[in-house]
Amino acid sequence: METLSAVLAVVGLMFMVYFYVKFPYFLHDCAFAVRSLRTRTRRMRFRRRVPLYTVLDCFLDAVHRHPHKAFIVFEDDVYTYLQVDHWSNRAAHAVLKHADLHEGDTIALLLGNEPYFVFLWLGLMKIGCNMSLLNTNIQGRSLLHCFLCCEAKVLIAGAEYRSTVCEVLPELRERGVHVFLLCDNCDVDGLQALKDKIDSSDDGPVSHTLRANINMRSPVAYIYTSGTTGLPKAGVVLHERIWGGTFFQYLFDVKHDDVIYIPLPLYHAAGLIIGLNGAIERGITVVLRRKFSVSQFWNDCRKHNVTVIQYIGEIMRYLCNAPKRETDRQHKVRMAIGNGLRADVWQEFQHRFGVKNIREFYGASDGNTAFLNYTGKVGAAGKVNFLQKKFSPHALIQYDTDIQELVRNSRGRCVPVPTGETGLLVCKITKITPFEGYAGDPQQTEKKKLHNVFEEGDVYLNSGDLMRMDHQGFIYFQDRVGDTFRWKGENVATTEVADVISELDFVGDVNVYGVKVSGHEGRVGMAALTLQDKQQFDCKKAFNHVTRFLPAYARPRFIRILRSMELTGTFKQVKMSLMKDGFDPERVTPPIYFLQESSESYIPFTPTHYHAIISGEICF
Ligand SMILES: *[C@@H]1O[C@H](CO)[C@@H](O)[C@H](O)[C@H]1NC(C)=O
Ligand SMILES: *[C@@H]1O[C@H](CO)[C@@H](O)[C@H](O)[C@H]1NC(C)=O
Ligand SMILES: *[C@@H]1O[C@H](CO)[C@@H](O)[C@H](O)[C@H]1NC(C)=O
Repeated sequence: METLSAVLAVVGLMFMVYFYVKFPYFLHDCAFAVRSLRTRTRRMRFRRRVPLYTVLDCFLDAVHRHPHKAFIVFEDDVYTYLQVDHWSNRAAHAVLKHADLHEGDTIALLLGNEPYFVFLWLGLMKIGCNMSLLNTNIQGRSLLHCFLCCEAKVLIAGAEYRSTVCEVLPELRERGVHVFLLCDNCDVDGLQALKDKIDSSDDGPVSHTLRANINMRSPVAYIYTSGTTGLPKAGVVLHERIWGGTFFQYLFDVKHDDVIYIPLPLYHAAGLIIGLNGAIERGITVVLRRKFSVSQFWNDCRKHNVTVIQYIGEIMRYLCNAPKRETDRQHKVRMAIGNGLRADVWQEFQHRFGVKNIREFYGASDGNTAFLNYTGKVGAAGKVNFLQKKFSPHALIQYDTDIQELVRNSRGRCVPVPTGETGLLVCKITKITPFEGYAGDPQQTEKKKLHNVFEEGDVYLNSGDLMRMDHQGFIYFQDRVGDTFRWKGENVATTEVADVISELDFVGDVNVYGVKVSGHEGRVGMAALTLQDKQQFDCKKAFNHVTRFLPAYARPRFIRILRSMELTGTFKQVKMSLMKDGFDPERVTPPIYFLQESSESYIPFTPTHYHAIISGEICF
C-alpha cells in the first residue's frame, strides 16, 4: 500500500515536472485567459448596456464616485474629476455657441498635450461630435489633406500652431471652415479666439439629447496613421474600439490608486486610448506632460508619486542613455506600459531604475489584433494563447523583402512561415476583429486588405509588420515591411517621402529607405537618387524643400547620389542592397550628404561624421 502511494507520488511529481517543462507558461496562460475573459464579459456588458455606456459615461460615473480626486496634473496645475467635468461642459457650450454645429459633425483638433485637449475630448463627446485628431508635426498640404479627408467643419488649434494654421487659412476659409485658436484674443482675420470663450462659458451640464443618436458603432475619432508626409490616413475609431483599448490598463492590473504618467502625444492611440481613456476607466490620476523630456522624467515621477509610466522604445533608450544618478531608483514607478522596447534596453532599464513590471504590447490603431506580454519573457512583444487563436485568427506568412512582395504558391495562396522564422503578420477580418478602414479613402482601405490568403474569399488585414514567433507562442517584432520604416515612434512611408523629393527639379529617380544606426530604435531615413542630365545636387535647395514639406521624423538624414537606379526584373527599385550599404562612407560610393540643421543645409558626409555618429557624439 505504502509503496503504491509512494510510486503514485513519484509518478505524479514526474508528470508535474514534465508538464511544467513542456508548458512552462501554462499557469500564466490560464491566469491571463481568465482576465481576458473577464475583460470580454465587462466589455460585452458595457456594450449592451441600455442606455448606451461610453467612456464618457464612465467618466461621469468617476466624477460621481470621487469628484475631488485629482484627474489631470499638468505642470503646476491640478484638475479634479469634478473640475474637468466642469471644464468640459464649458468647452462644449462654447463650441456649440460659436461654431455652427450639428450632431455627428466632425471637428478637427490640432493640439499638443495640454489640459484643454482633455476638456475638448470629453466636451465634444458630450455634444456627439466626431473628432479628427491631427498630428501636430504636419503642416501645409498634408495638414489640409488630413483635414479634408474627414470632412471636418471646424478646426481648433493650439495657440502654438498659429503660423501652421495661417499657412492653410485661405484654403480653409474658401471651404467655409470655422477656424479657432486656443488663445484669449486673436487679431488675424478669419481666425477666432476660443480660450476666452471657453473660460467664460457656463459650466452646467450638457444635455443628453445632443448625443442621443450615438451608438457603439458610431465613430468618435479619426486617428491618423503616422504616415508621413503627403498623405497620412485617417483611421476610423468607433466607440466600441475605444472601449477595447481602454481595457489594456485593466488587463495589466493597474490599480485604482495608481498614478499614470503620459508623455506620449494624445493624438495617437497609445496616449489617448490606452493612456488617458484607460485612466478614466480605472478612475486614476494622470500626470500629463507636454513633451517627453529626459531630464525632467524622473523629477516628474518623484514629484507626483507616479506609479505607472507609458513608453515607446525610444523613451526607454533615451532614459538609459542619460548619465547615471544616485537618485535613479528613488521613485515609486512600479510598471511601464508601452511598445517597441528592445531586449537589451529592457534589461538595462529594469536593473538601473528598478522598475519591476514591464508590460509590452503590440497593436496599431489601424490594426485588428493586439498581443500582450503577460508572462515575463524578455524581448517579446506578446504571447499568443489559445483564446487569441480562436477569436482572432492570424498568421505569419512568407514575404520576400528583396522585391517587397508576398510569396504566393502555385495555387495563388499565401504560405505560412515555419515556427521561428520571420513573416508578415496578417489577421483575419471578422466580426470580432473588424477593420473600419480610413475615412474618405476607400483606395487605401482596400490596399490594407489581402484577399484569398488561405482560401477562396477570405480577407485578412496586412499589418505591415514582420514578426517572428517561437515554439512557445512568444511573438517578436522584427521590422516593418520595406515600404515603411519606423523612426521616433512614427511610421514613415517611403513612397510619400520619395514623392516629395522627386519634386526637386534636379532629381531623377528616388529610392527611400531606412537604415539602422547603433544606439537608436527603428531606422533613420535615407534617400538614394539619380540626378537629371547635367545637373548638380543643390544642398541648400534640397534642405529647404525637405524641411518645408516633410515633418522632422520623415526627412531623410542621408542622401546618396547614384549613377543609375538598380531595378528588378519587374522594374521595381531594389532597396535591400542599398539598405545593407547603409551610410558608411567606406562602403558607399560618394557623393553622400548629411542633413545638418545647424547649417540649414545638406553637407558632404565624411568619415569623421560617420565616427561621430557611431560613437554617439552626433545624436538624432
Ligand atoms: C460622425 O459620426 C456620426 C455618428 O455619430 C456619423 O453618422 C457620421 O457619418 C460621422 N461623420 C463622418 C464625417 O464620418
Ligand atoms: C507623494 O507621497 C508622499 C508620501 O507618501 C506624500 O507626502 C506627498 O504628499 C505625495 N505627493 C503628491 C503630489 O501626491
Ligand atoms: C514581459 O512581461 C514580464 C512580466 O511582467 C516582464 O517582466 C517583462 O519585462 C516583459 N517583457 C517585455 C519585453 O516587455
